[in-house]
Amino acid sequence: MDQAQQLRNVVKEKNIKKNPKIASDARVLTITSGKGGVGKSNLAVNLAIQLRKFGKRVIIFDADIGLANVEVMFGTNPNYNLNDMIYKGKSLKDIVSEGPMGVGFISGGSGIAGLNNLTAEQINLLLHNFSELDELADVIIIDTGAGISDSVLKFVANSPEVLLVTTPEPSSITDSYSLLKVLYQQPDFRPEQTKIQLVANKVLSVADGDALYDKLQLVVSKFLGGKLDYLGIVPMDMTLERAVRKQKVVSLEAPTSNAARAYGILADNLMHHEHKTLMMKKGISQFFSNLFSK
Ligand SMILES: Nc1ncnc2c1ncn2[C@@H]1O[C@H](COP(=O)(O)OP(=O)(O)O)[C@@H](O)[C@H]1O
Ligand SMILES: [Mg+2]
Repeated sequence: MDQAQQLRNVVKEKNIKKNPKIASDARVLTITSGKGGVGKSNLAVNLAIQLRKFGKRVIIFDADIGLANVEVMFGTNPNYNLNDMIYKGKSLKDIVSEGPMGVGFISGGSGIAGLNNLTAEQINLLLHNFSELDELADVIIIDTGAGISDSVLKFVANSPEVLLVTTPEPSSITDSYSLLKVLYQQPDFRPEQTKIQLVANKVLSVADGDALYDKLQLVVSKFLGGKLDYLGIVPMDMTLERAVRKQKVVSLEAPTSNAARAYGILADNLMHHEHKTLMMKKGISQFFSNLFSK
């Protein structure tokens, strides 16, 4: 039996409706960057932990294929990944693993590789299953791979909220701008429906972060006619580096460190924006419906 046939069987078995109607409330945050190694996965796991401290139910969807950063930092080896849902009929609950402090996470495995080639049936299956996340989570954090690949762009273009991680290095700023430029060229990108917020990572001071935001914000408005919001900073902190080397999450390993406190402030800032953003209520089903519609 080939994979397409397997999938048809799964769809038949589960009696997936053609157009699943889903009530959705979860908030979707997509973390991305122009280049790798700038702190996306650390933002994903630490933000998740900090949001848990505020009582939010959080699920991380690890769409950064191959590196498995989230799994490593959570010290968990998931038994399943997205492939098990798409091809083997596993339900979403089966493929959500539990990390520290009850943070859920889904491993993308190699399931994302074929994202752009999904059939209508597969889209419906995914939609059907992802809608379960609305019941399980208040916030869904998507950790994307770096750079300008088609699947990352699709995630970002269709996400209601994007967290763009940038460091003060000139190359990081240039790469962030390049990513935004390509994003603005995507046919399915609607600037007015996407809130893009800068997270200035590895800064040496508050002023350092402000300067980074000013630079990037200026080129975005001048050359793209767009808007960039500012979520805040994470300082350069050796404690974070040491935690990562021990395969630990700094917010748990050293909760009073500068980095951990900064992630706490970012989580707080995010919650204060909660009611201000029009698109937040779009939720996961809308997000995935946009993502997979042709
Ligand atoms: N705020 C920070 N302070 C010090 N080092 C950091 C900071 N953020 C990230 N790093 C370093 O950068 C590395 C890459 O971070 P990671 O979150 O894995 O990036 P990405 O997911 O974007 O590839 C980490 O292992 C850590 O050593
Ligand atoms: Mg990563």
